Amino acid sequence: MAKGDEVSKVLTHLESKHDRILAELIEFAAIPSVSTDPAHASDVDAAARWVADALSSAGPFSVRTIPTTGNPVVYAEWLGAPGKPTVLVYGHYDVQPPDPIGEWISPPFEPTVRDGNLYARGTADDKGQVFTVIAALEALKATRGSLPVNVRYLIEGEEETGSKGLTELLTREPDRTRAEAVLVTDVNIVAPGRPSVDAALRGIIHAEIHVRTLKADLHSGIYGGAAPNAIETLLQLLGKLKGDDGRIRIPGFYDRVKRPAAAELRAWRSLPVKEKGFREEAGAKGLNGEKQFSFLERVWSRPTLEVHGIVGGYTGAGSKTVIPAEATAKISLRLVPDQRATVSAAQLVKAVKRAAPKYADVKVSVYSMVDPAQTRLDSRAYRILDEAFREVWGRGIAPIRSGGSIPIVPLLQQRSEAVLLCGVGLPDDRLHAPNEKLTLDQIWKGIVLFGRFFELLAERDA
Ligand code: BES
Ligand code: MN
Ligand code: MN
Repeated sequence: MAKGDEVSKVLTHLESKHDRILAELIEFAAIPSVSTDPAHASDVDAAARWVADALSSAGPFSVRTIPTTGNPVVYAEWLGAPGKPTVLVYGHYDVQPPDPIGEWISPPFEPTVRDGNLYARGTADDKGQVFTVIAALEALKATRGSLPVNVRYLIEGEEETGSKGLTELLTREPDRTRAEAVLVTDVNIVAPGRPSVDAALRGIIHAEIHVRTLKADLHSGIYGGAAPNAIETLLQLLGKLKGDDGRIRIPGFYDRVKRPAAAELRAWRSLPVKEKGFREEAGAKGLNGEKQFSFLERVWSRPTLEVHGIVGGYTGAGSKTVIPAEATAKISLRLVPDQRATVSAAQLVKAVKRAAPKYADVKVSVYSMVDPAQTRLDSRAYRILDEAFREVWGRGIAPIRSGGSIPIVPLLQQRSEAVLLCGVGLPDDRLHAPNEKLTLDQIWKGIVLFGRFFELLAERDA
């Protein structure tokens, strides 16, 4: 059959099912499956059930909701195309907390269409993108009678909290990841109309620094000037970990940081993302950090140290003249290839201890670690995805990177030479922020794209 015919069959199918597909996604996005908040445990379970039901009615899959030490993993497979390639699809049904709720134009769990976008927490990250691939396979099955390739699905509910349950499951049962290609639809494209695939993701270390300088809070008139203040000590300590020039002052930290190849950096310069637009989208008056690196290098291929929150002292009404005895900061380090999380975490602990003044008790607790990941762009599956983009969107893939982290990707990338970090979201989708959205047009274009990708994988194999 001529290549355009398959695409138009899927399109016709989509047109007739348009309203139903949108209604289903709205139902999915309305479930407040916030994985970090125990109060939402039953919603997390409901989202897992929703995914399992959607997969059961989409295709010939055998679907299992597998309990883990954390949230359930929805696993589905159909291996009924012997001799054809197998694709593993990864995504997550858990979402970030919606706060600050007051900033939302429509409530975070009442999905609302405005100006061609679907607004709700989790539409772009990652429910809408998971749904796009399910809808693509459903359209293929409906138009062809069966699926062109073998498929495995791993949709988890703990991505936003570190993927502990899924990691344990895949370590125990490695066969579940056996596939020629792994499609991770939990990233965005670089600009509207510009398909892209991530060649790397950053890793991340979460840590807490706790400082105690006194047995108890003291009167700042009686003791001030001689008794050590825990908040000030914490700030001085944090100040020693990163210079005003953006460079992180942890001995050995940069030893394994690899600069992207000249060709990769050159390709980034021709992308339709410029510093001014990036700054405006961030809502910042100016950018900072390591000025000797371009802004894209800074967010894609340089490590960071970020302070997320500080707790301590008196912040209530009026004033209170007190010297706080303790203070805590939540921080994270983003890591890039070829740093290793365990090594960087040990370096952090050592640097904090070294910077701590004698008069303070300083504790560092590292509570989660994700390695950076780098994927290969020379696989057969990558070339076929590029072909599908050219055919359906009229433009091939730009290799980019993302500064975000996906905890399971380092494991997937160890097992497969064809991990494809490819989504259909846009850079202004506001992940983790108020008014998260997914553009409806991206969903329709995504369904056709992924459908064609699966078909080409099978055809080119023949
Ligand atoms: N999907 C994101 C990561 C992402 C966003 C990758 C945009 C590429 C482009 C993921 O859900 C996420 O938010 N990950 C967390 C890490 C997790 C351990 C909390 C992150 O990056 O902060
Ligand atoms: Mn995500
Ligand atoms: Mn996320």
